[in-house]
Amino acid sequence: CRLLKEQKTAIITLFELTTVLFNLLPLDLLSTNRSSIFSGHHGQLSLTAVFLDEYRDRLFLGGKDILYSLLLGPASSESKEIYWPPLPGNREDCIQTGKEPQTECANFVRLLQPYNRTHLLACGTGAFQPMCAFISVGHRGEHVFTMDPTNVENGRGKVPHDPSLPFASTFNGGELYAGLTADFLGRDSVIFRSMGGRSTMRTETDQKLLHDPKFIAAHLIPDNDDKDNDKVYFFFTEKASEPGDREGAIHTRVGRVCANDVGGQRVLVNKWSTFIKARLVCSVPGPHGIDTHFNQLEDVFLLRTKDERNPDVYAIFSTISNVFQGFAVCVYRMADIREAFNGPFAHKEGPDYQWGAFEGRVPYPRPGVCPSKITNQPGREFGSTKDFPDSVLQFARSHPLMWRPVYPALRQPVLVKTNIPYKLKQIVVDRVEAEDGQYDVMFIGTGNTRNNLFLPFFSSPHDFKQQALYVGSPAGVAQVKLHRCETYGKACAECCLARDPYCAWDGSLCARYTPNSKRRYRRQDIRHGNPVLQCVDQNLSEDIDMTEDKVVYGTENNSTFLECVPRSPQATVTWLVQRDDRKEEVKLDERVMSTEQGLLFRRLFHQDEGVYICRSREHGFMQTLTRLTLEVLQGETVDELMARSYRAWMPCSAYSRGGSSSQIGQSRTWFKDIMQLIGPSNLPHVEEYCERMWCNDKLRRKHKSMLEKHRQAQESARKARSKSSGERNRTPRDLSAWEE
Ligand SMILES: *[C@@H]1O[C@H](CO)[C@@H](O)[C@H](O)[C@H]1NC(C)=O
Ligand SMILES: *[C@@H]1O[C@H](CO)[C@@H](O)[C@H](O)[C@H]1NC(C)=O
Ligand SMILES: *[C@@H]1O[C@H](CO)[C@@H](O)[C@H](O)[C@H]1NC(C)=O
Ligand SMILES: *[C@@H]1O[C@H](CO)[C@@H](O)[C@H](O)[C@H]1NC(C)=O
Ligand SMILES: *[C@@H]1O[C@H](CO)[C@@H](O)[C@H](O)[C@H]1NC(C)=O
Repeated sequence: CRLLKEQKTAIITLFELTTVLFNLLPLDLLSTNRSSIFSGHHGQLSLTAVFLDEYRDRLFLGGKDILYSLLLGPASSESKEIYWPPLPGNREDCIQTGKEPQTECANFVRLLQPYNRTHLLACGTGAFQPMCAFISVGHRGEHVFTMDPTNVENGRGKVPHDPSLPFASTFNGGELYAGLTADFLGRDSVIFRSMGGRSTMRTETDQKLLHDPKFIAAHLIPDNDDKDNDKVYFFFTEKASEPGDREGAIHTRVGRVCANDVGGQRVLVNKWSTFIKARLVCSVPGPHGIDTHFNQLEDVFLLRTKDERNPDVYAIFSTISNVFQGFAVCVYRMADIREAFNGPFAHKEGPDYQWGAFEGRVPYPRPGVCPSKITNQPGREFGSTKDFPDSVLQFARSHPLMWRPVYPALRQPVLVKTNIPYKLKQIVVDRVEAEDGQYDVMFIGTGNTRNNLFLPFFSSPHDFKQQALYVGSPAGVAQVKLHRCETYGKACAECCLARDPYCAWDGSLCARYTPNSKRRYRRQDIRHGNPVLQCVDQNLSEDIDMTEDKVVYGTENNSTFLECVPRSPQATVTWLVQRDDRKEEVKLDERVMSTEQGLLFRRLFHQDEGVYICRSREHGFMQTLTRLTLEVLQGETVDELMARSYRAWMPCSAYSRGGSSSQIGQSRTWFKDIMQLIGPSNLPHVEEYCERMWCNDKLRRKHKSMLEKHRQAQESARKARSKSSGERNRTPRDLSAWEE
């Protein structure tokens, strides 16, 4: 049960920034046809770090006291492991300080980065004594995976001590940039640069610079061709200091340092001298002109393009208050981020003054600018930040915040979800070439824990390589195909209406779309999804009907609901009812209403029995979505049946949960709801599930025999009834599936 919950992940497919054309496509990892799933060699994987190595076709995983290497070849599922516990004595020391043995006093691997051509850098919490090691992974084509346990380095400043604290890092030019808390108590919030030849750099301890930050992502992004202008960007949240915010308000920031920052000569020695930050805004217009702000940053994905200076920044935000819980995805352009950094600095005369834009003279070189050709003027050379005048360093230290915030592209989120029963946690984005242009497809991991989503991009499609999404959770890692074209049905029109840029109609199938291929027969229309244009030679007037027949039971004089939701929000739905081989449109009135979710009978009559057909029409394309046989039961019958089958289940559930009477009352409602919701076709699964969860064999047999008795009683009642209304020549339907 826990596994089910933890691994539930949704894929949200969104095409185009301006319009949501296609909607949610949830993907339950346990029901989807993933090609592989890996949960470690010792039960729970406790996954905490992942690195996908596209060059070597390998997936490296880090967990609790363990590292794995998985080969990703076509037929291979080979895996190797390295046991990596804390250094001798550290686990005991950690327990001595009162930390949890299981969840804190182990070596939780937090960082896995490529280091050089043959080695990875791995860092773990080491039972509150962070440590790093180099892992030999060999060259491409060989499956080497070893670590020299004697060659372990201090990991302080590279990963946090506490496995539950957030941190972000990026490895560049042999140096590690990390935003984290670097002490045992988790209070020293810093941006660190370590390793490599230069001396270690850190942030000065000052709440103006970083106020209780939570680091989410770090990336090096070049400014131009001059490497001296390379900057490392950090995405994080911190306590807000600006006006108009309530106590303890959180803001999301983008901050940056120059990669060639070496600190000051007399002040800011070995401390960042180029750090500046700006607010990232993600909001929607609200009532009375007050915007609703999504302030809490959850995840960032950098969508890299050919122009490495200008990736698109995708970010998930949340806002959680007593009245409202919402999530939003905003996309930022680097140009807008740079513009905020080039704009005025935020300034405050003193504690009792308002924040405003700094209007005085900014010293030269402007704080936040890297020493490079640009800053060099004739007679004034700035070879490094050590050459910066003290006035520049002092200004940088007192004015780290920019006045103007960064707004998302189009000034609004590309996705907003409110009051959903799960959280949006992680995002990866794939830019897809379709027949009619480029589309960004977002994959969003949901749940209550932070999962790991990794999406590899292959520059040129290899024969054996399938584009895949790797989805991790503490329980394991699954590989999920991006192309799920077969789920869209077997007709050209369905394929077209799906508007999935990964799929196209190839003449006989809804199949994977490969851009620039020479295939003549490819039909795809992401923008309009119009099958009339795309499937001209297909017989559209032919109603595509691939529904299974289902039976729905309603109670006389009570309300009942026939569910039917079209796959496309633009489709119109009609309901037909078939009785004695005559099909007619359902007459709608006060009693029988058509809703967005289906057909609602506010009061059910016996003569409502029949076969109900729900059809959708879009662009002249007709589709039968649902075919439901409605059976009307007399009130007594259904209640009795519920009560009996419920009693049969009750012992199992009550025993295993140790239920009180109020819980029993709740389970009863729950049981009824389940029976109504799942429909008869899914009952075997539920049976199987409940059995595993609750029932032992003895109880199961008891339950079965009770149901069997009831089934017989039901059958004879039915026979009597159909005799009395004899003219309706129907075969008696088998209730057994439902009872089961
Ligand atoms: C699952 O995928 C594999 C490989 O792509 C395929 O061989 C298999 O038939 C699929 N199974 C189902 C039930 O679709
Ligand atoms: C990579 O780094 C490791 C650890 O410092 C070192 O032992 C190894 O020789 C290096 N490999 C190459 C190819 O530089
Ligand atoms: C298209 O399908 C309809 C309904 O099945 C049929 O009456 C019609 O003859 C078909 N047209 C062609 C061109 O096949
Ligand atoms: C009608 O339906 C409601 C809700 O499901 C239920 O509480 C009630 O007992 C039903 N009445 C009869 C007569 O079945
Ligand atoms: C439904 O209502 C009708 C008219 O009020 C009544 O004759 C009939 O007995 C009721 N049926 C049930 C099962 O309550």
